[in-house]
Amino acid sequence: MNSLIVVSNRVPAPKQSGSQGGLAVGVMNALQKADGLWVGWNGEIDESDDVAPSHYEFDSVRFATFPLKQHDYETYYTGFSNEVLWPLFHYRPDKVEYDRQNLAGYLRVNELFADKLLPLIEDDSRIWVHDYQLIALGHFLREKDVNLPLGYFLHIPFPPWDVLRIIPEYEQLLRYLSAYDLIGLQTDIDLKNFLDCMQQGLGATLHDDNVIELNGHRFKAGAYPISIDVDEALRMAKEGEDSVTGQRLKKSLSGRPLVIGVDRLDYSKGVYKRFQAYERMLENAENLRGKVTFMQISPPSRTDVHEYAELRTTLERVAGHVNGRFAEYDWIPLRYLNRGYARESVMGFLRMSRVGFLTPLRDGMNLVAKEFVAAQNPEDPGVLIVSHLAGASRELDGALVCNPYDVDGVADMLERALTMSLEERKDRWQRMYDILRRNDIHNWSRTFMETLVSVPYSRS
Ligand code: F6P
Repeated sequence: MNSLIVVSNRVPAPKQSGSQGGLAVGVMNALQKADGLWVGWNGEIDESDDVAPSHYEFDSVRFATFPLKQHDYETYYTGFSNEVLWPLFHYRPDKVEYDRQNLAGYLRVNELFADKLLPLIEDDSRIWVHDYQLIALGHFLREKDVNLPLGYFLHIPFPPWDVLRIIPEYEQLLRYLSAYDLIGLQTDIDLKNFLDCMQQGLGATLHDDNVIELNGHRFKAGAYPISIDVDEALRMAKEGEDSVTGQRLKKSLSGRPLVIGVDRLDYSKGVYKRFQAYERMLENAENLRGKVTFMQISPPSRTDVHEYAELRTTLERVAGHVNGRFAEYDWIPLRYLNRGYARESVMGFLRMSRVGFLTPLRDGMNLVAKEFVAAQNPEDPGVLIVSHLAGASRELDGALVCNPYDVDGVADMLERALTMSLEERKDRWQRMYDILRRNDIHNWSRTFMETLVSVPYSRS
């Protein structure tokens, strides 16, 4: 069997809980089926030169991880990945902090990843690179004579042409992407944006089946919406509900329905507006005061980026404001938890919730929305509210789909979700569950890999 090597910026530490995000969960599930190797940064800083990767095995997956130097972390990870690419690809040019030096760091570390990878590659390897931190990795692998199939999957949105070209090196980035044989995007909108950028930015020619031709070389793009392992999510949710943690949460609610949000602490997740919408609902629906609890779990993330530190302060202020305004001696309306929990506990919390409240201002997919659906009890399922700017809303047609910028609209929708009949809840949930069953994580990775090996590649 061909060996599968997955490369991503961060490799989750064994048993890590909390802030890992959708990539870690999705990729881990895909790799477990493929007896694969996962290569990437171990999340640590080390100033030594040429540190050899550490090898270990965990949950049926082999890992090879290495540290980064402080300067590389600052320029590649914080500077270019998270102060330029992240806001830009989430349609937030206002938050872009562009600095040419950081691009140099980004490229240096992408090449470093290529160097770490080379000794691990076998003649029959298939290499699958993940996310915006490693756009240039394929280009450096080609420079180092790697002629194997190279796949790339972008977990975040791909911006429209007019947004992408805000950064001076947009053409360079597009050229780097053309080094891969297959580019996977989350949704048809991202795919359309990508194809448009290739045409307008580089003058590429489009052929049938999203095959792109650039300077005589052909490669392919496609929409492959990432998903979850439905059986595993359900098993964890049941165990989580029955666990001591789950039971403690249930007891603390005193029978009140739970509204839940789970997101890394990130401005793209729309938690500020979500808090405002909850406040508006309490303002409007007096009958629900004292009768509902909203729990927002937001583990800190990218704390060295100024925007994230600022957001943390803002959310603490708004959460305090909502509670100050509406709390009673025997009721706290909003529980804002600025920390992560074990995945099993979170899955249990999702199962116990009446409403999944996920309102990102822009999101590649939002796997928590899918986990919420998978976690539900079919006899008493909760209602999913999801932003129309999250990839998940394009698949989960039984959800209440909101515009996260419309605070009044979201407030009304929350009230509707909290008062929805059991019959409607069941009907909506069943539709979403059927879709999840059809496109689960195994289907996602199988479809991507089958397409990758079928794309003709000739690089000699
Ligand atoms: O899904 C987007 C993403 O940036 C992933 O690449 C990453 O694994 C996750 O979110 C968490 O981000 P970070 O590694 O910056 O904490």
